[in-house]
Amino acid sequence: MPELQRFSYDVLVIGAGGAGLRAAIEAAADGAKVGVVCKSLLGKAHTVMAEGGIAAALANVDDRDNWRVHFADTMRGGQYLNNWRMAELHAKEAPECVRELEAWGALFDRTKDGRILQRNFGGHKYPRLAHVGDRTGLEMIRTLQDHGIHCGMEVHMECTVLDLLMDSGRVAGAVGYDREKGHFLLWQAKAIVIATGGIGRAFKVTSNSWEYTGDGLALAYRAGAELQDMEFVQFHPTGMVWPISVRGILVTEGVRGEGGVLRNSEGRRFMFDDIPDNYKSQTADNEDEGWHYTQGDKNARRPPELLTRDHVARCINREVKAGRGSPHGGVYLDIAWIKERLPKAEEHIKRKLPSMYHQFMQLADLDITKEPMEVGPTTHYMMGGIRVDGDSQMSTVPGLFAAGEAAAGLHGANRLGGNSLSDLVVFGRRAGRYAAEFARNNGSAPSIDEEQLESVTKAALAPFDRGISGENPYQIQYDLQDTMQGLVGIVRTESEMEDALDKITQLEARAGNVGIGGNRQYNNGWHTAMDLNSMLIVSEAITHSAIIRKESRGAQFREDFPNKDPEWGKYNIVVKRGEFEGEMLIEKRAIPSIPEELKAVIEEMK
Ligand code: FUM
Repeated sequence: MPELQRFSYDVLVIGAGGAGLRAAIEAAADGAKVGVVCKSLLGKAHTVMAEGGIAAALANVDDRDNWRVHFADTMRGGQYLNNWRMAELHAKEAPECVRELEAWGALFDRTKDGRILQRNFGGHKYPRLAHVGDRTGLEMIRTLQDHGIHCGMEVHMECTVLDLLMDSGRVAGAVGYDREKGHFLLWQAKAIVIATGGIGRAFKVTSNSWEYTGDGLALAYRAGAELQDMEFVQFHPTGMVWPISVRGILVTEGVRGEGGVLRNSEGRRFMFDDIPDNYKSQTADNEDEGWHYTQGDKNARRPPELLTRDHVARCINREVKAGRGSPHGGVYLDIAWIKERLPKAEEHIKRKLPSMYHQFMQLADLDITKEPMEVGPTTHYMMGGIRVDGDSQMSTVPGLFAAGEAAAGLHGANRLGGNSLSDLVVFGRRAGRYAAEFARNNGSAPSIDEEQLESVTKAALAPFDRGISGENPYQIQYDLQDTMQGLVGIVRTESEMEDALDKITQLEARAGNVGIGGNRQYNNGWHTAMDLNSMLIVSEAITHSAIIRKESRGAQFREDFPNKDPEWGKYNIVVKRGEFEGEMLIEKRAIPSIPEELKAVIEEMK
C-alpha cells in the first residue's frame, strides 16, 4: 500500500464553509478533539456567495416579524416539502445565531438607532436579512474562521476526501489525499460531519467554484446514507452572462432588494406579467408601490422582482426564449434607474452594493450606477442532500452527520435567499454538538479496515497506470456538464432526462477507464478524475429523482407536467445505494405529518 499519514480525532469535519466551521467550533467547545478537512484553502467557500444577507427574524426593521412568520415563509417557499422540524428550529434559533456571530466580531450594517440592519429579499414577508453591504457571507467566514482557530481545531487544507471508512455499520474515518503533495491521508474519527456544500459544478453555468462537485453527498451515499430531494436544484435568477469567461458568477439578490428591476429588450418590467396566485395578495401590481416597499414603506407590497427564485428564474428563461432577451442571452437588471427617485443614488449603490459595483467594473467594464447589467439564471444551490434527523443532523449511518447545503430538509422544493447563511449556523451548531456527543457516548475509536483502505488508494492511483491512453477526465467532465445543463436544467421533460440518464451511464463507463499523465504532485488531471466519481453519482441521483417526480413544484419545472399535483406534495424522493455494484434505489417516502400547532402557524400566516 502507498505511504500514508494517519491522524485521529473525536470529530472530523469535512468541509470548511460556514456549516463546517460552525460545527467544528461547537464540537471543540464541547471538549472534542476536532479535525477539519477542506478541499481548498481555509476561508475559500461558497458561503461567500451568499452575499445579500443572513435571514433571521430579529424584527429590527419591522416589528411584525417573528419566528412564526419566518417559519411560514420558509415552508411556503419550500412548497411544503420541507422537513418541518428543521424549518421550526431554524426560524427559532437563527436570531440567536446572528447575535452569536456579532459577539464573535462579525460586523453588520446598522439601523439609525444602532441595531443590526435588515433588508428585503425574495419570499420573506418582512425585511429580514442582516447584512454587511453585499459581503455578508465573507464576513461570516472571516468571523467563524478566526473563532474556530482559537477554539483549537486542526485544519487540513487542500485535501480531497476519497471515501469514508466503516466499522460494523458505523463510520470510522475518512481517507483522502493532499492535493499539493499527492500523498494519502487517513483521518480516523468517532464521528464525522459532512459540510461539503453543493453540486453546482455538475452544471455548465454555475455560481459555484471548482470545489463544488458533490463530494460529501457521494461519500455519504457510498457509505449507505440516504439522499433526499435531489430533484431540487436552485437556479439563482441573476448570474452574470457576459463576458463569457465569467458567465454564472453571482449577482446578489440584494440588488433587487435595494430597488433593482428586471427588464426585457423592449424595456418592459416583465415580472409584472406573471404573479403566482399564492403570492398575489403580497405582491405590488404597479411600479410605485414596489419602489415604496424597497424603501421601507410597511404598507406597500413587494415588487415582483422579489418573488421566489424559482419563479423569477423561469420568467427570465421565458423572456430569453421568446426573443426578448439581452444581446448575450440574459435580461437587464437595472439599479441605475433609482437615480430618478433617490438623491445621491450613486453613492447609495456603491455603499450598499460595493462588490457588485467592483465586480461589473472589473470584469465587464460596466458602471452599474449608470447602466443596467445583463443577467441570467445560474446553478446556485442544492436543496437536496443527505437525509438527516432534524434535531441532531445525524444521517441514517450511525456517527455520520451532515449540515448546511450538504444536508437536505430545511428548504424543501426551493430555498429562500438568505436562509442558507442561517441554515449554516443553526445546523452547523447542532451537527457539531451532536457529533461530539456521539463521539463521547460511543467509547473507543472504531477500528480501521485496512483492506478497504488499500482498495481506495489503489483505485485512486489506477488512472496513473492507464496514462494518457485512458479517457480524458476533462472531456468527461465537460460532457457531463453539457448533459446536465442541456437536459436536466431549468425546464425538464421526461424524454430529455431519459436521454441524460443514458448519457450518464456512458460517461460512467468512460470514467472507469480514465487515464492521466504526470506525477502525483498538484496534478489537476488527477483531481478532475477523482471529482468525476462524485459528480456522476449526484447527476444520476438528480436525474432519477426529477424523472420520478411527475409534477412541477418549486425548483423543478416539468414542461410535460406543468402543474403542481397535490398528491406529490405528500412525498419526498429518497435515493439509496442498492446491493449490486452501481445500483441506485429511488423511493417515494411519505412526509411525516406536521403537528397541529405548526399547521396552525401556517394557516394563520396565510
Ligand atoms: O443573492 C444572494 O446574495 C444570495 C444569497 C443566498 O443564496 O442566500
